Amino acid sequence: MIEKIESLLEEVKTLLAADAKEVETLRIRYLGKKGVVNDLMSEFHNVPADRKREVGMKLNELKTAVQEKINALRQEMLTHEDDHLDLDLTRTPYPVKLGTRHPLSLVKNEIIDIFSRLGFSLASGPEVEDDWHVFSSMNFAPDHPARDMQDTFFVEQHPDIVLRTHTSSVQSRVMERQQPPIRVICPGRVYRNEVISARAHCFFHQVEGLYVDEDVSFTDLKQVLLTFAREMFGPDTKIRLRPSYFPFTEPSAEMDISCNICGGKGCNLCKNTGWVEILGCGMVDPNVLDANGIDSTKYKGYAFGMGVERIANLKYQVKDLRMFSENDVRFLDEFISAN
Ligand code: DAH
Repeated sequence: MIEKIESLLEEVKTLLAADAKEVETLRIRYLGKKGVVNDLMSEFHNVPADRKREVGMKLNELKTAVQEKINALRQEMLTHEDDHLDLDLTRTPYPVKLGTRHPLSLVKNEIIDIFSRLGFSLASGPEVEDDWHVFSSMNFAPDHPARDMQDTFFVEQHPDIVLRTHTSSVQSRVMERQQPPIRVICPGRVYRNEVISARAHCFFHQVEGLYVDEDVSFTDLKQVLLTFAREMFGPDTKIRLRPSYFPFTEPSAEMDISCNICGGKGCNLCKNTGWVEILGCGMVDPNVLDANGIDSTKYKGYAFGMGVERIANLKYQVKDLRMFSENDVRFLDEFISAN
């Protein structure tokens, strides 16, 4: 009997199972009521008295070995099941880290929201543009310095095709396909050949505004911009218009807002002047209307253009312009509460 038990002990070591069902079959075969171990137990009374101790111990050894083997096989099945669970592509991955809107998108959306409430609709145009829409139709003289290689990215071997340097090109795109009344804002990316630093980048974002109709006045422009400034920076914000020059507007102005950091008292941001510049604007030059198929004897218009990064800087005090395009999640996470 000892030999029989010993060969069973060897057999148990080699047992294998493919799944939980097979483990259960093995358990019944060895440990079940009519199983191998119980059979041996019933043979046990035939063992001579002087060998009972020795055989009894071997039998217990077998019982334990089978039990341990079954447990080990069960454990193995569980681990396999875990592997399966890891592969379940429908499982929710925890913890779920939500993305956030980019600060420039937040500011752009806010600008769009304010002007939509004032009746402006959205327009867009291509970033790779022709000279006509970026410069000529906007009343830039052929030798205007803005066409210079210093500022403009030209498409190789196509001196007439450029990366737009401003969203004013969309003004032309809109006017050539639509007669007044026109009331649009055009958000978009623009490109300039600048050395990248904390204060300048080779691309940035603008929002252009254009209103063309009969009897449009500078007062209308001023009122819309004042409303915008107050909505964007708070109800106490003041605006100031300084005479300026742009080829596409006459008269032209640059608009400052009272510094939103110091409230106009003077600080680093406003260089102690109490004012910060946020946009350019003016009455659409009649040449621009005519060049784009709109009768300048009948219609007038105003236009404005602002930098989204500039507005975002004022709202969030981002010191380095490069942060906006590096996609560092530590920076982007700072805007979670603004989302
Ligand atoms: N295009 C100008 C720029 O890129 C901004 C601008 C100024 C747009 C005055 C306008 C405007 O529509 O009227 O600096």
